[in-house]
Amino acid sequence: VLKSMVEGVLAVDMEERLLRLNRAAGELLQVDPEAVRGRNLQEIIRNPDFQNFVFSILKSKKTLEDEIAFHQGQKYLRAHGTMLHNAKGDEIGALVVLNDVTRLRRLEKVRREFVANVSHELRTPITTIKGFAETLKDGAIRNPEEAERFLEIVAKHADRLNAIIEDLMQLSRIETDADSDQILLETGEIYGVVETAINACEVKAVPRKIKIKLEGAVDLKAKINAPLLEQAVINLLDNAIKYTEPGGVIQVSVETDSSEIRISVKDNGCGIAEEHLPRIFERFYRIDKNRSRKLAGTGLGLAIVKHIAIAHQGRVSVESEPGQGSTFRIHLPHSQA
Ligand SMILES: Nc1ncnc2c1ncn2[C@@H]1O[C@H](COP(=O)(O)OP(=O)(O)OP(=O)(O)O)[C@@H](O)[C@H]1O
Ligand SMILES: [Mg+2]
Repeated sequence: VLKSMVEGVLAVDMEERLLRLNRAAGELLQVDPEAVRGRNLQEIIRNPDFQNFVFSILKSKKTLEDEIAFHQGQKYLRAHGTMLHNAKGDEIGALVVLNDVTRLRRLEKVRREFVANVSHELRTPITTIKGFAETLKDGAIRNPEEAERFLEIVAKHADRLNAIIEDLMQLSRIETDADSDQILLETGEIYGVVETAINACEVKAVPRKIKIKLEGAVDLKAKINAPLLEQAVINLLDNAIKYTEPGGVIQVSVETDSSEIRISVKDNGCGIAEEHLPRIFERFYRIDKNRSRKLAGTGLGLAIVKHIAIAHQGRVSVESEPGQGSTFRIHLPHSQA
């Protein structure tokens, strides 16, 4: 029974010699269960917190619980320990049950960081709005020119708050719907969706004198959610326009081979340094916060693209070289139908 348990179980005698250690405990503690039997716990498991934990059980003869970090915080184990008795009821040692709670702790960390990020992102516009409202109240309102300028700033930051909240809600909706299989995928033509996205972005491209070209497989079909896929392409185009100098060219293509369908958006803009590439699809990740703020970016655009791709059983990728431009791709599977 001990062998097949997912929980790690180990028993020591009153002198802290190992009586038993099941396979799971061996894996959790990274020791060989066969090799350590009969040896002293202090020698085998060189973790002071764990040693103290076992010592405290034997000393206090109480049931104890604790969470202990192992391998420089790479693993977190929940330990539950109690005295061990023989058939006559004599105390013969201690029994410890171990559960791996590393994944749980990681998820909690991600959640904590996310909440901290959101709060930070919301605080900036709120502080600005409050500041200018105070200034207006303190007299600036009687100077019409100043008042108008300040009110414009207030309005701009209110819009920014709105944009962050809209993006967060969209992201959470896509994730929830994808988790519960509620995203409707229907057979549709990719090219048409991409064309619609390009049309929606022309208004931003024209004043910046940026050309958007489209090529590729015109009648290629796949199982898609057209509005979401359109949104994903719009987000990529929006970036390509934002991060490319006037006069630039954006090349959009719809390609396919035997393994997948690819929508790529290639720009000849500023490009992205290699160290940023692995994190670029994370929520709120921006390379140049100040620059991006000026461009009113929330840092959620690419996270939305990634989750839309995942909702299509696909993925995203990026290739870029500073100064040479970037290519973002959405990879979609061929429909199984
Ligand atoms: N085509 C691109 N060329 C260069 N850098 C890019 C490109 N696309 C994205 N980036 C970088 O990646 C960051 C994250 O992009 P993302 O779209 O997620 O956020 P954003 O554009 O700042 O804001 P928004 O949420 O409004 O789109 C950007 O801030 C920018 O630094
Ligand atoms: Mg963007």
